[in-house]
Amino acid sequence: MRIAPPDKDRLAEAAERLRGGGLVAFPTETVYGLGGDASNPGAVAAIFEVKARPAFNPLIVHVTDLDAAKAFGRFNEHANTLADEFWPGPLSIVVPRSPDGAVCDLACAGSPTIALRSPAHPVAQALLNETGLPLAAPSANPSGYLSPTTAQHVAEAFADKDMLILDGGPCPIGLESTVVDCSQDGSVHLLRSGGVTLGDLRNAVGEIEVTSHAADGQPRSPGMLARHYAPRLGLRLNADSVENDEALLAFGPVPPQGAMMTLNLSSSGDLLAAAANLFAMLHVLEQSGARRIAVMPIPESGLGRAINDRLRRGAAGTAETFCEPDNPA
Ligand code: TXA
Ligand code: MG
Repeated sequence: MRIAPPDKDRLAEAAERLRGGGLVAFPTETVYGLGGDASNPGAVAAIFEVKARPAFNPLIVHVTDLDAAKAFGRFNEHANTLADEFWPGPLSIVVPRSPDGAVCDLACAGSPTIALRSPAHPVAQALLNETGLPLAAPSANPSGYLSPTTAQHVAEAFADKDMLILDGGPCPIGLESTVVDCSQDGSVHLLRSGGVTLGDLRNAVGEIEVTSHAADGQPRSPGMLARHYAPRLGLRLNADSVENDEALLAFGPVPPQGAMMTLNLSSSGDLLAAAANLFAMLHVLEQSGARRIAVMPIPESGLGRAINDRLRRGAAGTAETFCEPDNPA
């Protein structure tokens, strides 16, 4: 961990780091973000690892402006109106993902939708311009801790981690962005309250539906759950053998033989590599023509917890993403 002023040289260094799959914490007008290249699954896996999130929640992808955002998501009338009105600023807009957008599945936690935001902070804008990359950036705090509003907060939380922290002073808003879902034509759902108020949103687009959440952050609206990633094939977890009409998602050096198709998350047993490979490999195995996917046991430690969480949701056929309404994680 190293704190640096956001001068020209440090911005160039930060961009270089991001292009190489490294992490950079940077200020936004809401809170500090822990940024990585959203098109690089290894970088996104590293974000989840550093935050020690027990699940792969979808991350907000930061872009310079609406034009840049349109490479990654499809903006309907409401989404366009909101972006015109509030960008750059503290509003994240959930829209359907563009099929050919460069953002990786892990950044969106396998969801067919993507949350995009153009931050107003000059350091965030400078970094986005310098890299030319979409930056996945959750709040730069370990899961379960308060969101950081100064570079010192980030430094204390991640003292022993390999990251560069750009110090842009205290965040002017100090509260995370508002998240709205515009992925269905004709309605706008408020998913998380934040820097842009419900009144501001209503002035811009009229009616806003407020999705209510259970205490654990799971959205209650069934319409939301239906749109989320569910694997097309059944999953059989903790498999130590495989049948010949199954596809195998292997982990470790000695996968059982005989599957219709085998892909190995990491033959060396590296959980970071496994997380980075997870979604892409599931997609390929789903198209293998197999009856179902057998998955070898994955250790329940570090990123293994988030990998197992995703696999268990898939096995239960209830894979879903969720929003944290007032959750500091
Ligand atoms: O102010 C902010 O938004 C900060 C700064 C760094 O930009 N970022 C932030 O990110 O708060 P994070 O990852 O801590 O919060 C992301 C929120 C979560 O509640 C997540 O569930 C929701 O956005 N979200 C992201 N993608 C989504 C999607 N495709 N559908 C529904 N919700 C989504
Ligand atoms: Mg957060």
